[in-house]
Amino acid sequence: MKFGKLSWMFDERKRATTKWGKLGSIIIQTKQEARLLYKMSEKFCNSTIVELGRKYGGSTVVMAAAINRQNGTGHIYSIDITDDHYQTAKDFIKSMKMDSYITLIKGNTQDYPNDHTIKDAGFVFFDASHDFDSINKEFNTWFPVIQINGFMIVHDYNMDKHPGITKAVNKFLKEKPVKLIERVNRSALIQKLE
Ligand SMILES: C[S@@+](CC[C@H](N)C(=O)[O-])C[C@H]1O[C@@H](n2cnc3c(N)ncnc32)[C@H](O)[C@@H]1O
Repeated sequence: MKFGKLSWMFDERKRATTKWGKLGSIIIQTKQEARLLYKMSEKFCNSTIVELGRKYGGSTVVMAAAINRQNGTGHIYSIDITDDHYQTAKDFIKSMKMDSYITLIKGNTQDYPNDHTIKDAGFVFFDASHDFDSINKEFNTWFPVIQINGFMIVHDYNMDKHPGITKAVNKFLKEKPVKLIERVNRSALIQKLE
């Protein structure tokens, strides 16, 4: 599915005409941030992709749409702890015909899920924990799962509202074999070098 077909998700008036309008934002990314997710999912369309924090599944659908567009064999493991949005996300993903690309996991993003084998991820998208200790735990859990030259995409970096994320990312950039490649609005794209 082309990225353009998803543009209604970022347009409040168009969104309001769909059954998802009542939710407010079906995706909590700017269009530019979503484009980065789409671009990276095209690049890794034959790999494993991990999403930490899905809420209603907007970002999940963006990534799946890119795999679909490329006829890729890749698969997204999307982890979120809450029961509240689980069914909404499931219904939304199904309505967009993206369910075959996605496994929804209920769990804490700080822990590796025991009942799934997830390895060699092209990238991990961090959009769950927002305090220093929790995101540090996520980094430690998921960094080994990323393939060499793969990526981390960390949302809410360098925002006054989330100083813990900025502190954790800056510490990680100093201490680990990683490189900050680019920033797109609130997202940081970081490559794992070794
Ligand atoms: C900002 S929302 C995700 C938005 C989504 N990625 C998007 O762009 O539309 C953050 C989500 O992370 C989940 N979350 C927060 N802390 C978590 C944790 N420790 N484990 C699992 N999920 C968590 C929340 O339940 C919430 O749904």
